Amino acid sequence: MSSVWGNHLKITVFGQSHSEAIGVVIDGFPAGFRVDFEALHTFLARRAPGNAAFATARKEADIPEFVSGLVDGVTCGAPICALIRNTDTRSGDYKNIAQCPRPSHADYPAHVRYDGFQDVRGGGHFSGRLTAPLCIVGALCLQYLQTKNIRIGAHIAAVGGIADTPFDAVNVCDDHFLTDAFPVLSETAKTAMQERIAAARADGDSVGGVIEAAVIGLPVGIGEPPFEGLENRISSLLFGVPAVKGVEFGNGFEAATLTGSQNNDAYCVKNGEIKTVTNRHGGILGGLSTGMPLLCRVAVKPTPSIAKEQQSVNLQTKEPQTLVVNGRHDPCIVPRAVPCVEAVLAVALTDTILGSVIHEA
Ligand SMILES: Cc1cc2nc3c(=O)[nH]c(=O)nc-3n(C[C@H](O)[C@H](O)[C@H](O)COP(=O)(O)O)c2cc1C
Repeated sequence: MSSVWGNHLKITVFGQSHSEAIGVVIDGFPAGFRVDFEALHTFLARRAPGNAAFATARKEADIPEFVSGLVDGVTCGAPICALIRNTDTRSGDYKNIAQCPRPSHADYPAHVRYDGFQDVRGGGHFSGRLTAPLCIVGALCLQYLQTKNIRIGAHIAAVGGIADTPFDAVNVCDDHFLTDAFPVLSETAKTAMQERIAAARADGDSVGGVIEAAVIGLPVGIGEPPFEGLENRISSLLFGVPAVKGVEFGNGFEAATLTGSQNNDAYCVKNGEIKTVTNRHGGILGGLSTGMPLLCRVAVKPTPSIAKEQQSVNLQTKEPQTLVVNGRHDPCIVPRAVPCVEAVLAVALTDTILGSVIHEA
């Protein structure tokens, strides 16, 4: 397993869904930073399970315990270690998974890779639960970036094919950054999405969707291309969020269908600053920030653990086996993944900024 990430801010995520605890060790976070615990808890609550009709019924408070790195709530430069105890585990629900892998979950390749010793309970180290530690470090980085006037927000751009209003690519501002458990800009789309999730759940099924995220206030010229550019760093961490299957920046795949004259963003001067009239490039060119809002879209697949009967095989006998998945699962991962995407952006940008010299535009 490789659960360590970062160049200047090194993070290690540890634990399994049903182990004693999960957590994160953070090395390289600036010293002398006062943590806003209320903001941290509010952020973590957005990802926590069991607080919404469209999420898993597993109940976890997800209040982190900081065991090092802070003195009276201020970072001291030593590695920060934060733990969250797992309390609401029902490991018996996973007994049948050890020999009968869930379609589209990590069970089968993990069984081969770890010689059958992987922790199958609750998805083990592959569980979406491991995004809680990621959100702890994300919350700290969001607070750190806020001191530099860099703000990050995301919303549910689509669920089961129902689309929300997109961010205004040129003028996105923090008023558009919603922080409720189901952040959607259009109320009509929100109702339709929630009905779609409820229908999938009632049918023993699940749905996927798309998250759109934006970063504003990023100075021009941040990034270390070609291999450590902003797209590289952000994508590398985004694919560490289970169920993320696609990432596009700006107009992404649509750019491939346009001509240069249709796709290029003309330059202009606004209030003495160089900007672009449109923002199809999504705030990144050559792996460097351009000073326009950074925009990315993240595809999240439907939850693999569904209540419907599915076809699998018995790993011992190699005979076909009908699988009924037990346990408590999210009928749609997208709402809980929204703060995870915000956390990823915050961590990736903090890591890059800590290693950057900021130039005057
Ligand atoms: C917040 C969050 C919650 C998740 N909840 C579930 C769940 O309840 N059931 C499930 O089967 N997968 C869930 N997943 C996704 C699986 O962990 C993931 O699909 C699996 O590990 C396979 O990895 P992959 O989809 O990235 O290939 C969740 C993911 C996230 C980010």
